[in-house]
Amino acid sequence: MKIHTQPRSDDNYRESMGRLLVLYTQVDRLIMEICAERIESAPDLEAKLALGKQVGDESRHVMIQRHWMERFGTATSPVMSASQEAMIRHHFRELPWLEFLADMYLCVEALGSEAVENIVPLADPGTRESLHVPLSDEQDHVAFGISRLKTELAQLPVDEREAFLAGIPQRITGLTAAFHGFGLGVAELFENVGASYAALCAAVNRRRDEVLEQVAA
Ligand SMILES: [Fe+2]
Ligand SMILES: [Fe+2]
Repeated sequence: MKIHTQPRSDDNYRESMGRLLVLYTQVDRLIMEICAERIESAPDLEAKLALGKQVGDESRHVMIQRHWMERFGTATSPVMSASQEAMIRHHFRELPWLEFLADMYLCVEALGSEAVENIVPLADPGTRESLHVPLSDEQDHVAFGISRLKTELAQLPVDEREAFLAGIPQRITGLTAAFHGFGLGVAELFENVGASYAALCAAVNRRRDEVLEQVAA
């Protein structure tokens, strides 16, 4: 299915791409804060080091995006409100380690970056360049999440492992619904930068199935 559908008006494009860049940067900053908080309670040194590296990566992504947005010149006011950010922080803060791994890496990191990756081919050269380093780091984060989750699940009794795996799609559906409940108008933003929202959702769903298969393998 082709992601790119209709020719775009330049004003609409810039405005909406600007909003998507702000949103991506907000999410990265939140992930940075959430992962920093998690270091102390992480179960072992390997996990602490991975979280610490991710904090550094996300900090770099925020910096890169901020510099690019300054040059891009569109509005930099937040897309998510402070209370929506607080809800996300609260959600992650409360999670046990396994659930943290599933929500952070399978949902936010893997599916979030899949959405961003799908708009790269539609983006102007400067925006595309600004996404290069962040998207390549996100793959590292997803790889850590998947391998760590597999290791943790392998240590559980079979029925617990199966139950946890069976519950992941529902976790993803719940988080996605909560995100859409924020009413940020992301479908329109994606359409305005030239994406077919239906094709984008299909790509994200394919990615979801892939990561679920990888964790269960
Ligand atoms: Fe990032
Ligand atoms: Fe990341």
